[in-house]
Amino acid sequence: MNSTQLHRRDVMKAGALLAASAWGPVAIAKSTRDHSARIRDLIGRMTLPEKIGQMNQIAGGRQKALNSRLDEGMMNRVRRGEMGSFLHVAGAEPLRKLQKVAVEESRLGIPLLFAMDVIHGYRTILPVPLALAASWDPAMMEQAAALAAEEARAAGLHWTFTPMVDVARDARWGRVVEGAGEDAYLGSRMAEAQVRGIEGGDPSAPGRMLSCTKHFVGYGAVAGGRDYDSADLTDRALHEVYLPPFHAAIRAGTGSFMTAFNDVAGVPMTAHEDLVRGQLRGRWGYQGLIVSDWNAIRELMNHGVVATPAEAAALALRAGVDMDMASGTYIEHLAAAVAADATLLPLVDEAVGRILAVKARLGLFDDPYGFGDARRAAAPLARTKAREMATRSIVLLRNEGAVLPLKPGTKVALIGALADDASSAIGSWRARGRPEDAVTLRTALPQASYDPGTDPAAAARIAGAADVVLLAIGEDFDLSGEARSRSDITLPGKQQALVDAIRATGKPIVAILMNGRPLALEKALAGIPAVLETWFLGIESGPAIAEILTGKTSPAGRLPMGMPRVTGQLPMTYAHVPSGRPANPDLAIDSARYRDVDVGPLFPFGHGLSYSRFDYGALAIEQRGDAAVVSVAVTNAGERSAEEVVQLYVRDPVASVARPVRELRGFHRLSLRAGEQRTLRFTLTHAQLALWKAGKWVIEPGVFEVMVGSSSADIRARGRFAIAEGGEGTAPAAAIATVVSVS
Ligand code: BGC
Repeated sequence: MNSTQLHRRDVMKAGALLAASAWGPVAIAKSTRDHSARIRDLIGRMTLPEKIGQMNQIAGGRQKALNSRLDEGMMNRVRRGEMGSFLHVAGAEPLRKLQKVAVEESRLGIPLLFAMDVIHGYRTILPVPLALAASWDPAMMEQAAALAAEEARAAGLHWTFTPMVDVARDARWGRVVEGAGEDAYLGSRMAEAQVRGIEGGDPSAPGRMLSCTKHFVGYGAVAGGRDYDSADLTDRALHEVYLPPFHAAIRAGTGSFMTAFNDVAGVPMTAHEDLVRGQLRGRWGYQGLIVSDWNAIRELMNHGVVATPAEAAALALRAGVDMDMASGTYIEHLAAAVAADATLLPLVDEAVGRILAVKARLGLFDDPYGFGDARRAAAPLARTKAREMATRSIVLLRNEGAVLPLKPGTKVALIGALADDASSAIGSWRARGRPEDAVTLRTALPQASYDPGTDPAAAARIAGAADVVLLAIGEDFDLSGEARSRSDITLPGKQQALVDAIRATGKPIVAILMNGRPLALEKALAGIPAVLETWFLGIESGPAIAEILTGKTSPAGRLPMGMPRVTGQLPMTYAHVPSGRPANPDLAIDSARYRDVDVGPLFPFGHGLSYSRFDYGALAIEQRGDAAVVSVAVTNAGERSAEEVVQLYVRDPVASVARPVRELRGFHRLSLRAGEQRTLRFTLTHAQLALWKAGKWVIEPGVFEVMVGSSSADIRARGRFAIAEGGEGTAPAAAIATVVSVS
């Protein structure tokens, strides 16, 4: 064991204050170890109000007016030790001053923790998380998170409320924009990539900060896709689909968790002792900090599980929530709860210990001012990286008759207000990003004749004079995100009339979708030969889309969430379990489908086209101990360099419970020159095939199917292998990463 690694047992002995993992050695920041005695000493000297003060997180401003509440009254509260953390604050200078008050003028001098929602960039706004996930490139996701962390840290921030790892299968839910889509395996890879990018194994190191994995758990499963509503989940769905990315984030070292607003089967997550203290802390051994979501402790009364704020405070603390975000319930009522029930006191001490341990891990006891860096904060925007990430996030959904890439000299009309909407380009969690930093598609294509499309007839006239029409349609940034659920996810406003008018010109159309969620566009896209999904791509949105349109880069993004034909198909997933009467295109046969819409999504999970073509060889499967090694040769059979996202799916065709028709268990974004061939090897362990049953991960013996292809609906090679002896897994199957090697 090297000097910065400890085993869990030793950590526990050292005072149970340190980050630990149930799976063996974990890296512990040196400063934390040095401070464990100090933390114990501090707790020994703290009054109950001071302890509860540490558990209180206050908004230092409104979301769009950061720092606006940092007046003298607030400074007096800091002096009295009434808070441990601020959110909605930023800026190297203001935060330095604020920290100075805490460190020099409060009785114990405990540094504050500064937090903000830095979700997809701080000043350099990158593609929204759903778009980054569409890259199917965890290394890029990690870089994006690292860049955001570096800029945020320079602004004096210690802690960002990201990643959001909620699996979501209902695009009516506006918050799908913040996550990685519908799949637990892809979501797990993106979760760990973000944690690595933010914390890099040591959140005190230069350019790093503390991550917060949210929202634990089931938030993506809210009924009807209505934000904040109830999630009535089965135990199997919870463990197989919704929990895995959280587990992956723990393994990647995430320093904190946030509980979700929703209830799961009647128990609000802010009060869910079995899932928070039991699963997360107990069975998963998680020792990091747990914060509530905004005002959620007080809202326990609205859920109808407590009658008073003091009961709410006690229930949340018992569940395992260390810090109260913004509700003031701990600071105002926890002392009364403790007075009424002394068994809460050790729980207070534990919570405070974890909060102080995080501060120590960040190095704040060594240098409370170590995070702001005014010079770095003034550095230019990272445009080159932003553009590359944006380009890699674009998904080509349809390209009939090779409309794309545009031939040189093509006369182009650009239609649609979104093509010139800089504010939408930067999405809804924009931190300190500015719309004026964004280069829109209109700016990036100065040679195109442009019309916003407000008057469809005028737009059609402009379109009629062009060879090809680029039609930007979708939703603006304010239609997705928190509290932005929609019951109808077809084109909002008058866009359908615009599409109809442009279609009537008979010109070839390239639909350029801009949106924070998958939309239901079967009708809108009928007869349109080319469709590009461009999400909200950040400050380099326009140039990135232009690179794809002109063919400078071949698109290789893939949908992290299928697109329905109509809203009524939701929720849906490619990984559904088979029915006794599987969906049949023939309406004369009674089957699991709607009568008024074709079977399946408009564009499936994993779908995305290229300007090149890829051939797949047959699968070779080799059994090696408790793993199956699946090899496949992939060839770029086209005429240009391009990338392909090779995807591996599995199915357990006969098991003791119905298993999904396919589940992603591996992928690799592969770059190949024209004519080049590579062999990919996926090492799939038996534990990755386990199913959740009666409180365990059960590996059932039998035959398993493997499918490799270009999307969940474009399987190019199949094979089978057998597991002779069953067993038990220790981790959620989808949380385990498949090792992929390329030769
Ligand atoms: C959201 C969280 C966010 C928090 C702080 C809440 O409303 O649900 O995702 O981190 O606000 O802004």
